[in-house]
Amino acid sequence: MHWNHWIRQFHRWTSIAFVLAVAASFIALAQEKPLVWVSYAPLPPLVLLVATGLYLFALPYLSRWRGRRDARA
Ligand code: HEM
Repeated sequence: MHWNHWIRQFHRWTSIAFVLAVAASFIALAQEKPLVWVSYAPLPPLVLLVATGLYLFALPYLSRWRGRRDARA
């Protein structure tokens, strides 16, 4: 339970970092001499969001599956 809460908080705050990185990317690319490397900044938080997001998605199904397994035991 404690672990799931930590992952949810992590997903929540990483999403803010991701939004800021996307905004920075727009600004960097709009310059007269675009700073192309800044447009890669959203990728690390996005990778973390995909991993933790898929975990959060699976949680309700995992707990249902565990519940059914426990009921049989
Ligand atoms: C890219 C793959 C992503 C996947 C697979 C994913 C999946 C999920 C899932 C399954 C949940 C839990 C929903 C529930 O309560 O049942 C969640 C919550 C959330 N997601 Fe994502 N997400 C992704 C990316 C993002 C992005 C890009 C953002 C915002 C920029 C974001 C922001 C949030 C926030 C704020 C929550 C609520 C967290 C909380 O409970 O406090 N996620 N996401």
